[in-house]
Amino acid sequence: MITEAFILLAIIYVALMLFFNKVHRKVISKGPPLICGYIPFVGIAVEYGMDPRAKIAQLSKKYGDIFTIYVMGQFITVVTNPVDVAKIYSSPKTFNFFEVGIEFGNRAFTLPRMDDQTNNTLIHDIHHGLQSQELPVLTERANTFIQRDFKNFRSKDWKKVNLVEWVGDIISSVTLRAVYGENCNFKEMAKTFFPFDDKFAIIASNIPFAVKKKTGLFDIRDSFATNFVPRPEDDACLFLHKRYDAFKGIKDLSSIQLGNAMSIIGWAALTNTITTTVWTIYHLLKQPQSVRDEVLDEIRDVLGERSDGGALEIPYEQLSNLKKVDAIVSESLRLHFGVLSSRMCMKKHNFESSSGRSYELPARGLMLLASSHHDPHFFKDPETFIWDRFLHMPSSVIAKNGKSIPLSSVYLPFGGGANLCPGRFFAKNEIKIMVCLLLTSFDMKVETEEEPETDKMKWTLQVGPFKEGNIEIRYKNKE
Ligand code: HEM
Repeated sequence: MITEAFILLAIIYVALMLFFNKVHRKVISKGPPLICGYIPFVGIAVEYGMDPRAKIAQLSKKYGDIFTIYVMGQFITVVTNPVDVAKIYSSPKTFNFFEVGIEFGNRAFTLPRMDDQTNNTLIHDIHHGLQSQELPVLTERANTFIQRDFKNFRSKDWKKVNLVEWVGDIISSVTLRAVYGENCNFKEMAKTFFPFDDKFAIIASNIPFAVKKKTGLFDIRDSFATNFVPRPEDDACLFLHKRYDAFKGIKDLSSIQLGNAMSIIGWAALTNTITTTVWTIYHLLKQPQSVRDEVLDEIRDVLGERSDGGALEIPYEQLSNLKKVDAIVSESLRLHFGVLSSRMCMKKHNFESSSGRSYELPARGLMLLASSHHDPHFFKDPETFIWDRFLHMPSSVIAKNGKSIPLSSVYLPFGGGANLCPGRFFAKNEIKIMVCLLLTSFDMKVETEEEPETDKMKWTLQVGPFKEGNIEIRYKNKE
């Protein structure tokens, strides 16, 4: 009986492998080298999922700048050369972000497709709001809320806090109130955000809906989304109101789908800002006192001293003059940003790579644009945090083909091209305000001795979060 069952399983396995290989051969013919592993459907998901960045680096060494991996039933073409990445970013019609958004929106948030016109208008409004029109107001609000929160932290005696939780609380409550309005339900939003963010990669993955439902993943997601079902507060960002009306207009959209559609912005606003702030503060506190003093001097030169009441004036226009603070945030983003963004190849396309080879890319093929942030060719001593690296970086660098390319083609923590993160200025402003207030308010020390480890499994499209989630610090009011 056991032998028969074994033979049957072996036959099924061989049949699956034959089918699998047939599918692969179709893709292989003129396409980039294909790495598919030996397990049907799963492909190389296990080794890739353990440490995506290391796996990509290893495959790139073996197969060159462009290759295709097979992961959980999906072919993903990985592009590692920044010259090719820049070419892809600059052709948004052929290599589309919107279509990836729809795919992820459907997988992670079970959202229906919108017509292109409405969607383009919404994306345009988000970009306009976050990058120009609403940016000074958002920054000013974040400043007010952080300064208010800081009053509660004052302590004459040394006090210990978990940096990850502390920053998570501050950034979530400040960002949510700035974006969704001062009276939004930010406490509940924040409470449900963390479990959702923790599971985001798996919720957005290609595993079947039924499995996500059965294992409670969608419940975690919907707990976060429920907070976003009511109409945004009057003082929420303008683009949120437009987004709400557009989704409300979709026939048969359930209220939880509406909540999910609105919660995407909240998730995007928090996920990377929190981790980047933690890394920035951690690295800053690990610098020698002389470096911290140099940064503090810059803050005092640009912003002046605190008033008698303890407030620090941080005018919006002065934030761009904090070059040293900016350099520290930029270096944290370089070191800890994961893989990079994705695009969808919209039609069958012959891609002429910078190495002179031509590859046929299939229609609706997913592309992953890998980061060069750890490539020693572009960033000397790439695994080391060098606090003033970005004060000395030239505006252009020499690519591997000997041609000069802008630094912005190899340093891409906010993505690139038409869909470059619209929240980047706000995020940086918020982090800089935090740094200025911390350095001018407190004496601080990192207590945790070991270097915190990045949770490599989550290190794909995000700034790497921490594995253990605990960095203990000590602080007290500055003398
Ligand atoms: C350090 C913090 C942040 C990082 C590292 C980051 C990174 C990114 C990246 C890599 C993308 C994809 C871009 C591409 O593929 O070309 C993106 C998109 C986006 N981000 Fe951010 N982001 C941050 C903060 C924020 C904040 C604070 C907000 C909102 C307040 C925000 C809102 C968005 C939105 C709405 C998109 C989609 C843009 C579109 O549809 O065109 N992000 N972000």
